Amino acid sequence: MNFILINIKELLQVRENQTQVVKGKELQHLPTLKNAWLKVEDGIISDYGAMDTFENHANFKIIDCTGKIVLPTWVDSHTHLVYAGNRESEFVDRIKGLTYAEIAAKGGGIINSAEKLQQTSEADLYQQSKIRLQEVIAMGTGAIEIKSGYGLTAEAEMKMLRVAKRLQKEFDLPIKTTFLGAHALPKSFNGNTSAYIDEVIDEMLPKIVEEDLADFIDIFCEKNYFEIEDTQRKIDAGKKYNLPAKVHVNQFTSFGGLQLCAENNVLSVDHLEVLTEEDIQHLKASSTLPVALPSCSFYLEIPYTPARKLIENNLPIVLASDYNPGSTPSGNMNFVVSLACIKMKMTPEEAINAATINAAFAMQVENKVGSITKGKLANLIITEPIHSYAFLPYSFGCNHIEEVYIKGQPQIHKA
Ligand code: NIG
Ligand code: FE
Repeated sequence: MNFILINIKELLQVRENQTQVVKGKELQHLPTLKNAWLKVEDGIISDYGAMDTFENHANFKIIDCTGKIVLPTWVDSHTHLVYAGNRESEFVDRIKGLTYAEIAAKGGGIINSAEKLQQTSEADLYQQSKIRLQEVIAMGTGAIEIKSGYGLTAEAEMKMLRVAKRLQKEFDLPIKTTFLGAHALPKSFNGNTSAYIDEVIDEMLPKIVEEDLADFIDIFCEKNYFEIEDTQRKIDAGKKYNLPAKVHVNQFTSFGGLQLCAENNVLSVDHLEVLTEEDIQHLKASSTLPVALPSCSFYLEIPYTPARKLIENNLPIVLASDYNPGSTPSGNMNFVVSLACIKMKMTPEEAINAATINAAFAMQVENKVGSITKGKLANLIITEPIHSYAFLPYSFGCNHIEEVYIKGQPQIHKA
């Protein structure tokens, strides 16, 4: 569909040639165009400008956006969207006072999801995941990274990644896949972590590479999960196959994992709820992107990534959902942006930059999405008539999105 949006109250994140992530003080700058038009041709943003430069074009549908704000869709660079079943019973356990670690110790947690997933067929897993993807697209997500890590066997990890690849084909939005594998130690390994890492690297990874199922690799680098040396081995194995690393680190403890990741210049380090002064210095010395997951902090009631500290240190920051059945059963990026403002004291401008342009860099789709730029995909959010863009994070938990376009195709079908 070729169309032109006209009378846009404010067009957000308008950038030509943004070749670098936005960091430090620059994060406060959200480039916008007031009273604007935006032209979409063959699913691509072909032009835009201020309304006083608008000329009518034959063969283009004209869509009036009076009072409405238009922005690029959210880019969610960290999810576990493909999973089987849910973990509501653990939710109730947590309400009754058990911690995330106590639930994992009694056989819940990642191992619980892995057992469910191993028993679920690929067709069923696809159907369950498809519903979640449709749901997050309707909430404004227009590019998404999806991890494996609830399989824990070659067969089940590959099943997850094939489902993610099929979603990519059928939904036609940028999807990147990450081989996590080293997410928790299967019971059958009796505590022998390095034997499991051998299997991940020597058995699973070559098969995954052969079927071209992954763009990145990941590992849960955390006390009681995987150690520093496991992490180094996984990063090295990724390098061998040209798969950059995105690592779960510093969720509960700072024990050297972040330093290792930064020294290896991995693509991103994700979570960072616990971040020391030394960790910040290591990030400053690297090109690694820090990714905060505030919905996980909210749900698990753990600290929020210290965004202001990162920004004061002239670092970039990325926001993502972490959508998964255990620590973040929501993929709502609007809520992520609200939490970033309310709990992490990021301004709306900083949060929007972190959830669009910077997030695109964190999943290497910066040439396709993340900003209003000629030649990028017409993956767009159109709001209802609202006062200002700050109204989006301010009115937390409410949905002010009227339409979402993916490659110029409308996605929200209200009855
Ligand atoms: O990113 N922290 C590790 N992995 C997930 C949670 C996994 C689960 O509890 O199922 C996360 O929070
Ligand atoms: Fe995660």
